[in-house]
Amino acid sequence: MADKWTPDGWRGLPIRQVPDYPDPAALAAVESRLRSFPPLVFAGEARNLKARLADVVEGRAFLLQGGDCAESFAEFHPDKIRDTFKVLLQMAVVLTFGAQLPVVKMGRMAGQFAKPRSAPTETVGDEELPSYRGDIINGMAFEAAERMPDPDRMLQAYSQAAASLNLIRAFAQGGYADLHRVHAWNMGFVADSPAGARYREMADRIQDALAFMEACGVSADRTPEVNSVAFYTSHEALLLGYEEAMTRVDTTSGAWYDTSAHFVWCGDRTRAVDEAHIEYLRGIANPIGMKAGPSLEVDDFLRLIEKLNPENEPGRLTVIGRFGAGKVGDHLPALIRAAEREGAKLVWACDPMHGNTIKAESGFKTRPFDRILAEVREFFQVHQAEGTHAGGVHFEMTGQEVTECIGGAQAITDAGLGDRYHTHCDPRLNASQSLELAFLIAEMLKKQRSEDGARLAEAATAAE
Ligand code: PEP
Ligand code: CO
Repeated sequence: MADKWTPDGWRGLPIRQVPDYPDPAALAAVESRLRSFPPLVFAGEARNLKARLADVVEGRAFLLQGGDCAESFAEFHPDKIRDTFKVLLQMAVVLTFGAQLPVVKMGRMAGQFAKPRSAPTETVGDEELPSYRGDIINGMAFEAAERMPDPDRMLQAYSQAAASLNLIRAFAQGGYADLHRVHAWNMGFVADSPAGARYREMADRIQDALAFMEACGVSADRTPEVNSVAFYTSHEALLLGYEEAMTRVDTTSGAWYDTSAHFVWCGDRTRAVDEAHIEYLRGIANPIGMKAGPSLEVDDFLRLIEKLNPENEPGRLTVIGRFGAGKVGDHLPALIRAAEREGAKLVWACDPMHGNTIKAESGFKTRPFDRILAEVREFFQVHQAEGTHAGGVHFEMTGQEVTECIGGAQAITDAGLGDRYHTHCDPRLNASQSLELAFLIAEMLKKQRSEDGARLAEAATAAE
């Protein structure tokens, strides 16, 4: 196939998971309006993110990517954005302090609206309707009118993403994320959990360290690294008409960028190498991700790497494994070895959510917290055995006190799932479960760092 790429080059290729819009003219009109709207992110920011991810490739930073499975119009509220942002800050601090490694912070936020589904239709009783595909496409209620794909929803998604991003930028830059406020992020029900108590002790030590620096004359007040954070947005690039409309040429570099988010990824169900989603993603200059599930064969994996990152640019491609607890060792080593043989520069991340979804006896879709932790542990073990870097985690969480994943220190049970089960798609970790996970990852990272150090020292001795 010719290498020439255009934002609409995916059209006409085989494609999966696309909605069936009833009125193509209305769809085209919306896409054309979107093309005239301001970009949501600036290409320079996406380039900065790529440079930070290049540090992750080398083991000099760790990627923390989390947020909603599906953002929704109904749940759009500043408190929800704030609470998710706050928990991500808490997790990042736990990792930075625990592992003494910079953390790249990325939200599944401000644009995570479109969902791949396991079946195109859903049947209740004897009524069959199109499946819910996320608020950017149709409505969740099981009613014919709601389930009809409506292009106007893209305009609402754009404006919700813009407003969310605006608030996130304000929090990140305007003082909310100042490390001096490390205690203030630990609020409400999280503070009362065991992870919250552990966090409080750590926050005391951070405050002491800041006070010590100030007493030494290092003014943390005026240090941007202390009083603000770099925070990036991401979502699955599933609805290609929307992504195409947000794709613009960057005048600085002449390259095409998807300006709907800093980072976009390809889902496990749409990563066929010669199909539309990969064709779209190969031409944008953003840092991108690719989910890797148990069905990914090594040959296809190598073809995908070649297509998505032909220049082998570090930070360009993040491989997000989602194999399921007990299965990481069956799949990940072969991928790592093949990539290492080719010298491929990759960020290796672990999504411990999507391979661990089960149906509870109560009928709710859930994820056992211990299986989530087990998959993260296996991910670190495999990388340790292969001598490569466990680069990051990708998970679904919310700052709210939901009861969607069973287990954790609060011991959410099957019977308790119904108490606050609010997700529009997959079950998410709540704030205290997220924090608990962060402490576990910090311990593993610390171990990885000390083993890396020992390896380097050994190599230096051998070279003498
Ligand atoms: C998701 O990230 O919400 C998702 C659908 O994941 P995957 O493509 O890995 O199934
Ligand atoms: Co999901």
